[in-house]
Amino acid sequence: MWTYCNPVSIHFGVGEFSRIASLIDNRAYAVVTYGDAYFRGLLQQLELTAGSAVFVVDTIAPNPDFVMLDAACGAMTAAARRPEVIVAIGGGSVLDAAKVLATGAMGFDAVREHLESDGASESLPVAAIPLIAVPTTAGTGSEVTSWATVWDTENAQKYSLARNDLYPSHAVVDPELMRSLPLDQTISTGLDALSHALESIWNVNFNPVSANFAVDAAKSVMKNLIPLSKNLDDLTLRSHMAEAAIKAGLAFSNTRTALAHSLSYPVTLHHGVPHGIACSFMLPDVMRSALGASVECDQTLKRVFGENLEAGADRLTEFLTELGVNSDPGSFGVASEEWGNWINAAIDGARGKNFIGHREQVHAVFNQVGSEPG
Ligand SMILES: NC(=O)c1ccc[n+]([C@@H]2O[C@H](COP(=O)([O-])OP(=O)(O)OC[C@H]3O[C@@H](n4cnc5c(N)ncnc54)[C@H](O)[C@@H]3O)[C@@H](O)[C@H]2O)c1
Ligand SMILES: [Fe+2]
Repeated sequence: MWTYCNPVSIHFGVGEFSRIASLIDNRAYAVVTYGDAYFRGLLQQLELTAGSAVFVVDTIAPNPDFVMLDAACGAMTAAARRPEVIVAIGGGSVLDAAKVLATGAMGFDAVREHLESDGASESLPVAAIPLIAVPTTAGTGSEVTSWATVWDTENAQKYSLARNDLYPSHAVVDPELMRSLPLDQTISTGLDALSHALESIWNVNFNPVSANFAVDAAKSVMKNLIPLSKNLDDLTLRSHMAEAAIKAGLAFSNTRTALAHSLSYPVTLHHGVPHGIACSFMLPDVMRSALGASVECDQTLKRVFGENLEAGADRLTEFLTELGVNSDPGSFGVASEEWGNWINAAIDGARGKNFIGHREQVHAVFNQVGSEPG
């Protein structure tokens, strides 16, 4: 038995940015974006066609954290006019920050209370402000998911804000906006998309609709990311990667992620590794840990990697190596004892529980002496 639902209207194509004004449709709108020149230019371009935004937050930095979000929500509650729609123009950090603002009309303390109570507190408004998501990276899939990753950097904690009304009403995906993305971010965000696709396959919430999106997405990333890394200006390759990131997003929007993401959070929090690298460098070992756990998972992975899945995992390692990503946690400064502890915690974490592999196999593959099998 399975269900699948994704309510986001997707507008895809070069030049689609110019369509946003018609989607705003004369509503009072706010913009959330980064502060640098390229994004200020996009804001100006939008305001030429849609009129002035009632409010702009342009202070977003990678991995939106409590301090930055507190200031942004404060500025929004102090603004003269409440927006009827929020337009988020940027990568996952911008899209996720916009989701927090969409529920932050009563200030950030209410959001914090909700996050720290694991969603139990009813401190947030009944309805979130509608969102138009305009991704400028091809990776997170946040334009088609109903959650935001929120970081409490000071206390080394990661939270997930998850509500059905945080699905953007529209995703406007214009590959032209991704052309300016530098090499490192092109690689890390592309690998985030690959991780989303694979994590939705070795997942207890596996369903055939997600699986089809995931297979397409994973094959496309493995075909297009290396050529794109050698020719960042190629709009066709940018388009393929943008489409792959959406498909991966559509896949994991209905399964969530699994062990690789669960393992990634401490790597980012304690060693500052960008999300897309942190959730992908160990994918070959996570894949080996999943093999044999479920017939439908194995069959789906064969659609990506061919009949020999052990050889497929080796190919994944080669793929990462060619992109300059080392599969050894030590290469990111992670000590082996620290890694062992994180593996145990990751298996038991919310995302780790989505993973179909067995604890013993994870330990055998990762070559760790772990806690009691569970
Ligand atoms: N909500 C979800 O479903 C979901 C899924 C995965 C990841 N995330 C979160 O998303 C965040 C990561 O997002 P990201 O990987 O997209 O990167 P990002 O938004 O953090 O941006 C990374 C860097 O790229 C720059 N950048 C972005 N687009 C650019 C462009 N077109 N041209 C030039 N520079 C550009 C930004 O200025 C920034 O410095 C993390 O916090 C992660 O936890 C959320
Ligand atoms: Fe991710």
